Amino acid sequence: MQGTMQHAFGNPSSTHWAGTPAYAIVDSARRQVAGLLGCKPAEVVFTSGGSESNNQVLKGIYFASQVPGSHIITTSIEHPAIVEPCRFLERLGARITWLPVDATACINPDDLIRSITADTTLISIMHANNETGTIQPIEECAQIAREHGIPFHTDAAQSVGKIPARVDDLGVDFLSIAGHKLYAPKGIGALYIREGTKLEPLIHGAGHELGRRAGTESALLTAALGQACELAQDLSAMARIRALRNQLWTGLKEGCGNRVVLNGHAGKCLPNTLNVSFAGHIGNEILAQIPELAASTGSACHSGRVELSPVLQAMGISPEVGAGAVRFSLGRTTTTEEIEEVIKMLIPLLGKRA
Ligand SMILES: Cc1ncc(COP(=O)(O)O)c(C=O)c1O
Repeated sequence: MQGTMQHAFGNPSSTHWAGTPAYAIVDSARRQVAGLLGCKPAEVVFTSGGSESNNQVLKGIYFASQVPGSHIITTSIEHPAIVEPCRFLERLGARITWLPVDATACINPDDLIRSITADTTLISIMHANNETGTIQPIEECAQIAREHGIPFHTDAAQSVGKIPARVDDLGVDFLSIAGHKLYAPKGIGALYIREGTKLEPLIHGAGHELGRRAGTESALLTAALGQACELAQDLSAMARIRALRNQLWTGLKEGCGNRVVLNGHAGKCLPNTLNVSFAGHIGNEILAQIPELAASTGSACHSGRVELSPVLQAMGISPEVGAGAVRFSLGRTTTTEEIEEVIKMLIPLLGKRA
């Protein structure tokens, strides 16, 4: 990014001396993103992030298909960046099916098969869930979509850079990336659009991004996303991160016994995400006592009432257990000493082993 600021401040669309270095940076970044996803550079469109990529697919298919009352299938554990555009399209006449999940936050592909109708225009299933880390059976679902001739999208904001997410291995037609989930800055993302698939642009204007997303590209931000994708090709650090996540889980389990419960799937999960419930506690009350710990809860408190996140609700978690949910996110810089420190800070707050 520093090099781009110094040497490539022109407009990537300009063909003069100031624009050509900026174009070269955007072009190279597109190749780096395509390299990580295993697609053609022309199939990558830069966006402002995961939300825009998701909105582009959902609304772009809806407006391109022109099927009145078209049917979209998604899941009950999606990020608001899927849920809200779906609700918006519902107000315009679309019909939405929200697939249920089991107690580990995983969907059942048989439910997908049963939900498909003649007017299904899109299936959108997240690759890995942002709250629990549970990985969905995308390959199987994408195969079902293909057999029925229905375009398939996955929101891979959480998975890209942590587990392999090559578009042909997954079998998807669209895939959303959020740059800040893989160490690029906030405000940049990308959408993979399989060659030959038709989407109405979300942002109309000049012909940037081959007419798929108007607006002068930011060479600065694309350079960062490109570099992040290049670095993310090497997932060898994820084994260490998974070991640290397991160290955290084991430490909490040893300290709290049955009073700590895992929210999510024990094996089919991201290496960096651990969501646990401390029974008999309220997540944000625990975190308020450890201000040096940056973690999230799975519930919100409204006038003394605890409301579980839609994801925990969809998993069928009881309000008593869900209220004590805390989500830990680890990263490439997390150390074993930090994990030990977190365990040491948490255990005294949580009471004795049951
Ligand atoms: C699964 C998922 N999808 C979409 C988004 C939205 O991405 P952005 O904040 O880049 O718009 C996020 C961000 O947290 C996410 O976790």
